[in-house]
Amino acid sequence: MKIAFVGKGGSGKTTLSSLFIRHLAAARITVVAIDADINQHLGPALGLDEEEAAALPALGAHLPEIKEYLRGANPRITSAEAMIKTTPPGHGSRLLRLLEDNPVYAACARRVTFDEGGTAGSDGDRGSDPDAASGVRLMVTGPFNEADLGVACYHSKVGAVELCLNHLVDGRGEYLVVDMTAGSDSFASGMFTRFDLTFLVAEPTRKGVAVYRQYKEYARDFGVSLAVVGNKVQGEDDLDFLRAEVGDDLLVTVGHSDWVRAMEKGRPPRFELLEDTNRRALRTMHDRADEAYGARDWARYTRQMVHFHQRNAESWGNARTGADLTAQIDPGFVLSESLLTVPAHA
Ligand SMILES: Nc1ncnc2c1ncn2[C@@H]1O[C@H](COP(=O)(O)OP(=O)(O)OP(=O)(O)O)[C@@H](O)[C@H]1O
Ligand SMILES: [Mg+2]
Repeated sequence: MKIAFVGKGGSGKTTLSSLFIRHLAAARITVVAIDADINQHLGPALGLDEEEAAALPALGAHLPEIKEYLRGANPRITSAEAMIKTTPPGHGSRLLRLLEDNPVYAACARRVTFDEGGTAGSDGDRGSDPDAASGVRLMVTGPFNEADLGVACYHSKVGAVELCLNHLVDGRGEYLVVDMTAGSDSFASGMFTRFDLTFLVAEPTRKGVAVYRQYKEYARDFGVSLAVVGNKVQGEDDLDFLRAEVGDDLLVTVGHSDWVRAMEKGRPPRFELLEDTNRRALRTMHDRADEAYGARDWARYTRQMVHFHQRNAESWGNARTGADLTAQIDPGFVLSESLLTVPAHA
């Protein structure tokens, strides 16, 4: 299951991603969490202190190794340098699975565990034992720092996430949760089409709802499945506003949370002490996400990655690499659930 959290800046994407991740982890569900926002806040929201968050390896910094690994023995991809963020997998490529150990996780993921008190710890990747207590794997694109100003674009960092998503085979009941960048920046790549379900976090304000409308419009042509989570909703008036503006796309609402406020102060209570209404909201989101799996269409998913690769190849990739990157497309290859099992010869 691939899940994204999007919405206006400050709407609560990171907060709700982190609560959803904690909810899944508490249910002992396999989770890989990715912070793909320019402002990297997911680590702290999962309870890491500043030092631990700063020590997280950046996906963007490992791009050459990631490409080399994913390329595998795919004869259509002649070198890691010829691989761009949209290069699709084909026969011979290596795929990623949520429940496995692989060099990409070894280099870029750190396990975050939640102890009884609700605080977290990052223990390198030593805790990669799937039986480890309610831990999740966390990957981050890496901060957009001063050294990047004027030379690197944020999208080149997010490219690593797009590449990983396109090489991921995941099944029912295991989760990839991505905290995305604010507003319509998500449309700068094909990444918005990579999810079984996109939670659009909206405050009951005109701006919050405007992002929803824009997202819905972009998403329509690509069959993106969208569910609105109202956040910071206080009272009937807020609820009426969201119902009127969002209609049936409104899945659930979350109110002001004292638990979240305590967490922000660096003193997270035990997760089971999260307010009942908010726990129920997370359960509703979880059910909706599970439902979305039934609507998954692997063939369409593969077609869309090919579509975005063609567009990227033609608009800049071919010129950049001096090769026809559309030759990387393997017409006979379709991602599917059957690839969840690693072939014996891999
Ligand atoms: N339900 C809630 N109850 C209490 N505080 C909340 C709630 N939702 C969000 N907040 C607070 O609102 C602020 C913004 O939330 P958050 O950082 O999750 O938003 P965001 O959409 O990820 O922002 P950005 O666009 O900067 O990434 C944070 O201080 C957060 O703790
Ligand atoms: Mg955020």
